[in-house]
Amino acid sequence: MRATEIAKDIFSVGVIDWNIRDFHGYSTKEGTTYNAYLIIDEKITLIDTVKKEFADELIGNISQVVDPKNIDYVISNHTEMDHSGGLARLMHKVGEDKPLYCSKMGHKNLSQHFSQKWNYQPVENGGELSLGKKTLTFLETRMLHWPDSMFTYVKEDKILFSSDAFGQHYAGPERFDDQIGDAIMPHAKKYFANILLPFSPLILKLVNQVTEMGLALDMVCPDHGIIWRDNPGKIINAYVEWSNQAPKRKAVVVYDTMWHSTEKMADAFVDVLTQEGVDTKPMHLRNCHRSDIITDVLDAGAIIVGSPTLNNGLFPTVSDFLTYMKGLKPKNKVGAAFGSYGWSGEAVKLINKELEAMKFELIDPGVKIQYVPNEQSIEACHELGKKIAQRLPAE
Ligand code: FEO
Repeated sequence: MRATEIAKDIFSVGVIDWNIRDFHGYSTKEGTTYNAYLIIDEKITLIDTVKKEFADELIGNISQVVDPKNIDYVISNHTEMDHSGGLARLMHKVGEDKPLYCSKMGHKNLSQHFSQKWNYQPVENGGELSLGKKTLTFLETRMLHWPDSMFTYVKEDKILFSSDAFGQHYAGPERFDDQIGDAIMPHAKKYFANILLPFSPLILKLVNQVTEMGLALDMVCPDHGIIWRDNPGKIINAYVEWSNQAPKRKAVVVYDTMWHSTEKMADAFVDVLTQEGVDTKPMHLRNCHRSDIITDVLDAGAIIVGSPTLNNGLFPTVSDFLTYMKGLKPKNKVGAAFGSYGWSGEAVKLINKELEAMKFELIDPGVKIQYVPNEQSIEACHELGKKIAQRLPAE
């Protein structure tokens, strides 16, 4: 990715990671980008860096616009290493004594990541920094999604540098929302579901706060994926909708299977729910990545989980998925469990326990069958499917 002027004297200087396929457990089938931004003013300022292994590419992109030595200020909106990994190399080029602006928690967290004693300048929420013609305002966004996270806003250009918020793990030739259109939304939704979902109440609070402040937004520049310049309101409205977690008439049947018995039960749930007008999808845990399943969980009203009993416990992929889903704290779900077993049959009980811990509404003890489902057991799945359909909102 070459340096691109995104507004007068503001350049995108980040990098594209075409080849990443696993971002700490999130499947990034189309890669991602690590965005960084350079502002040319009386004080030349860099906002964020990139992953460590891309630091030289970042420095190369900056050099297309200005000699890195001429950078006066560096801003770190977020400590996570996909945005700070390149900081040591960058500061070495820029000058170790140059002011490094970050939140107070950013100061603490960066100090725990790097041994260098940089010229940290912790900022207050709402604090301002004049660059000459342009003024930066810093907005603390604690736990969106790390304690150190903050946004940086350029008043004169009405541009928000939003760190991880409003991002997408997507690598492509496009730089802006108008170049890709609605095709970016599934990536934005997956990103929200897998990274920001646990912080939904904070997002709603932040959007209210920004609305009350009357902050005009001509452009939203996240640290991953495309920039929202045509319609920043579209991603903000989508965040409000996703944060509200209103359940749809939709069910996800997530399962694993050993000898196809639990799979037959999954198919029975899908059949009956589809007949009942519920948008339903079976998701086999060894064919669907957990991060894709969670994207469907986001707006589903019902999550139906199936596992065979293996060695008195859950099938390992089911345990993995339940642990992952629990951490993301989805809300407003009806839950149900099913599964086949040979002789002990603990899986359904164990799934119920996890779903209860997630505060899902359990409307039935679930369906467990021994060895291979017969007509009666398929009928039991159908009956439970109908009960679930009744609990979901109409279209
Ligand atoms: Fe893109 Fe929280 O790092």
